[in-house]
Amino acid sequence: AMRIGVLTSGGDAQGMNAAVRAVARTTLARGAVPYAIREGWEGAVQGGDYIQELAWSDVSGILAEGGTVIGTARSVEFREWSGMHKAALHLLERGIDRLVVIGGDGSLAGTDEFREGWAAHVAQLLEEGAISQQVADAHPSLIVVGLVGSIDNDLVGTDMTIGADTALHRIVDALDQITSTAASHQRTFIVEVMGRHCGYLPLMGAVAGGADYVFTPENPVGPGWEDDLCEKLRRGRAAGRRESMILVAEGATDQTGAHLGAPQIAEAIRERTGEDARITILGHVQRGGTPSAYDRWMSTLLGYAAVQEITQAGHDSEPVVLGVRNNRVTRIPLMKAVRDTRAVKGYVADGDYRAAMAARGTSFTT
Ligand code: F6P
Repeated sequence: AMRIGVLTSGGDAQGMNAAVRAVARTTLARGAVPYAIREGWEGAVQGGDYIQELAWSDVSGILAEGGTVIGTARSVEFREWSGMHKAALHLLERGIDRLVVIGGDGSLAGTDEFREGWAAHVAQLLEEGAISQQVADAHPSLIVVGLVGSIDNDLVGTDMTIGADTALHRIVDALDQITSTAASHQRTFIVEVMGRHCGYLPLMGAVAGGADYVFTPENPVGPGWEDDLCEKLRRGRAAGRRESMILVAEGATDQTGAHLGAPQIAEAIRERTGEDARITILGHVQRGGTPSAYDRWMSTLLGYAAVQEITQAGHDSEPVVLGVRNNRVTRIPLMKAVRDTRAVKGYVADGDYRAAMAARGTSFTT
């Protein structure tokens, strides 16, 4: 029977479990055999017990759990040829040459590099006598389907990444809670949120949480930002607002590319208004907890679609990433998704807001 491996890689994201569950059960329903590769690519590098066959009941009860129960890692060894070489051997030992990889852009880029080197690894393993000619002939290429697991919502080609919706819920919950204490004291709060190079979480969090101001990586501040911010805060107070809420992305910068952090913003407010703003850094709270309904059903549909895709793919099919566009499952060539995402990062680094948003091209920005 066909063997299909599934792994989660990079930062965990709520909904990864739903995807793993759907991959395992769809695989079983099709008479194929699912394997979990534990601790991300690190598990493939290590082999042995890290690669485990999954039964139907092994994924029971994980749909509502946050994180990823099969573990994840940012594997250092897998970045080297020698680590990838071990990974190829361990997969071939189990007869696995079809993989559903759930991870962020870094993980998907690493996956693509591995896939490109696959034939060379097979040839080398054959030469080393580690595998037989028969095994080499049976697995001429690695067939990959990627799903995007990242709370950042930073991959080009999909409207939503797995985990982004839940992380946004965490942010909005926190903002609601902070708002009540802020309003009681008529205070200003600066809340730092995750998202690395992508402003999705801070921007949507600001809109959904009713914030007064937002700093995103795509929109670096220019000279005079302190006055603009304080003027807006002052007007809010004059209009009767009891609390002021400022969101700042962990990756926010000024136009010289220097990091713009919450303490710097607090200092600017203190200097201009005499007010002592409070700072809350939400941190990994955003990545934890039970996935939202959206992250559960979307990840389930994507896991199902991934197995459909991978069972139909042949050794000469191009690798794809499955995502969501306008509420439909969509396929994007893996290489293109990785390339376009890198281009967006370049625009963000240059502080070119318009180019970044246009290149990202997701429906929520258009
Ligand atoms: O990519 C997800 C993410 O949570 C980012 O938003 C953040 O920059 C990063 O991971 C934090 O990484 P770590 O969990 O390794 O500290």
